[in-house]
Amino acid sequence: MQIPTHLAIIMDGNGRWAEQRRLPRILGHRKGVESVQSIVDECMKLGIRYLTLYAFSSENWGRPQEEVEALMGLLGSFLKKELSQLQKRGIRLMAIGELDRLPETISKILKDIVKETADNDRMVLNLALSYGSRNELTRAMQTLGREIASGKLHPDALTEADIGAALDTHAIPDPDLLIRTSGEMRISNFLLWQMAYSELYFTEALWPDFSRDQLLQAIQEYSRRQRRFGLTGAQLRDSNIRDGEGRH
Ligand code: IPE
Ligand code: IPE
Ligand code: MG
Repeated sequence: MQIPTHLAIIMDGNGRWAEQRRLPRILGHRKGVESVQSIVDECMKLGIRYLTLYAFSSENWGRPQEEVEALMGLLGSFLKKELSQLQKRGIRLMAIGELDRLPETISKILKDIVKETADNDRMVLNLALSYGSRNELTRAMQTLGREIASGKLHPDALTEADIGAALDTHAIPDPDLLIRTSGEMRISNFLLWQMAYSELYFTEALWPDFSRDQLLQAIQEYSRRQRRFGLTGAQLRDSNIRDGEGRH
């Protein structure tokens, strides 16, 4: 089985999971945290190097205050509890998004954990928090604009690599596979630049129901796909033969 180097997941459907059971939405989010723990664990076992989880979007700030506060509370307790687990398993925590919009207590815990786990090298767990791709691109353009205005960078010399380097994800390769749960077939402002050539996988399962088996199914389907990056199938076969390996 071909294992993606970088798996990104849009963890959607917590609210509906709760609503279907006539429970408050926050209980769906709480249940969703359990899925996070089991999927992180499974990704480690599979040897996935980077796992990015879309946990809270820029647009999610617009939800009812009560839900936003409950989500921030869950995030805080998840982070506090998780540190020892991350250390034990050798996982490095990273975060992308407009992190200074998070409540101060949470951005502080986050910074501390990112620092304390910086030397762990078994897997990177990257949390997208207060993240929106257009916001990230806008901030990157502001950074590059400042470099151009100061004369450090000539506009004609700007490359795709410079843009990638100005994004929050600069230290992380582009996702190979994106999974979205809950049956919605949209990207919802997630990693627009980085997903130019990601394989997309949509499942009806709501995030709290998303199991290790369903993760394996997604990766099996990913393994069966041929990633052509604009080339022809024949070109890829030829280069595989030259490289002396099987299919990509
Ligand atoms: C995903 O579940 C979690 C967040 C967006 C924070 P939702 O809360 O979006 O669940 P649905 O889509 O309403 O079911
Ligand atoms: C995307 O889910 C964001 C996260 C999973 C954090 P949403 O539930 O916010 O997306 P839309 O509103 O259905 O597009
Ligand atoms: Mg949703």
